[in-house]
Amino acid sequence: MINRAPNILVFDSGIGGISVYDEIRQKIPNANYIYLFDNEAFPYGDKSIDYLIGRVKSVIHKAISLFSIDIIVIACNTASTICLPSLRESLQIPIVGVVPAIKPATKVTKNKCIGLLATKATVQREYTRNLINEFAQGYNIELLGLSELALIAEQKLQGIAVNQQQLTLLMQPWLTLNVIPDTIVLGCTHYPFIKPELAKTFPLATFIDSGYAIATRVYNLLEQCNFELTNISQPAEKADHLVCSTQYNESVEKIIPILSKYNFNKYQSISILCD
Ligand code: DGL
Repeated sequence: MINRAPNILVFDSGIGGISVYDEIRQKIPNANYIYLFDNEAFPYGDKSIDYLIGRVKSVIHKAISLFSIDIIVIACNTASTICLPSLRESLQIPIVGVVPAIKPATKVTKNKCIGLLATKATVQREYTRNLINEFAQGYNIELLGLSELALIAEQKLQGIAVNQQQLTLLMQPWLTLNVIPDTIVLGCTHYPFIKPELAKTFPLATFIDSGYAIATRVYNLLEQCNFELTNISQPAEKADHLVCSTQYNESVEKIIPILSKYNFNKYQSISILCD
């Protein structure tokens, strides 16, 4: 059995993956964390599949060359729905991805109308279509792919208030439906940050994200890798919490003090040369 603290890499295009990191940290507070975001290429939601497969591979391989990592979490639906096979092919380290929580939503909905809110890219993916075909036969699945929402969430985390009117306007395609979804899947890791505002627009809906399920999966996989998670020798206060981005800019400067609320105390910029 291994009783040292595992080193967990959590990756996203932006700060959305912090919502997933936060769930994992609650489950495994003594672990060491590296949160890496590819702000140089943000947003992923408007990038081509080929570009993203190459880009994510380059960024993750770079991280592996710099840090000792026991498990990788691709905390981005847009990337996970296309990048996992090529990453798993090229790496021996366990990789956990995040995909829209369609299946759990079918257990919650009463009116059988489920809304999937995600990036434009995620709603168009074959992976997403297959998820719906496999787990949501007989349910009415309304897809809404938006490019603005991830940025709105990024801005909220930087202290810029969400414009509720603008948000409600973006939701018009659902607000004008005969049957409005009673269950809304947050299919982008940025969206849990704007759940309070989304709930104002859809006060009767239940919102579902994948954070808790991912944290459970990470826990189980680490146990399978012989980590004795209930007996980690390092106390939580001693754990490393490093945040990295692929570009240092003004937004990063603003976000660093905010991320200290999530226990991050160190920052490193990582440059990606080959895309
Ligand atoms: N957080 C990412 C996701 O879960 C997407 C944001 C982006 O467009 O880069 O899909």
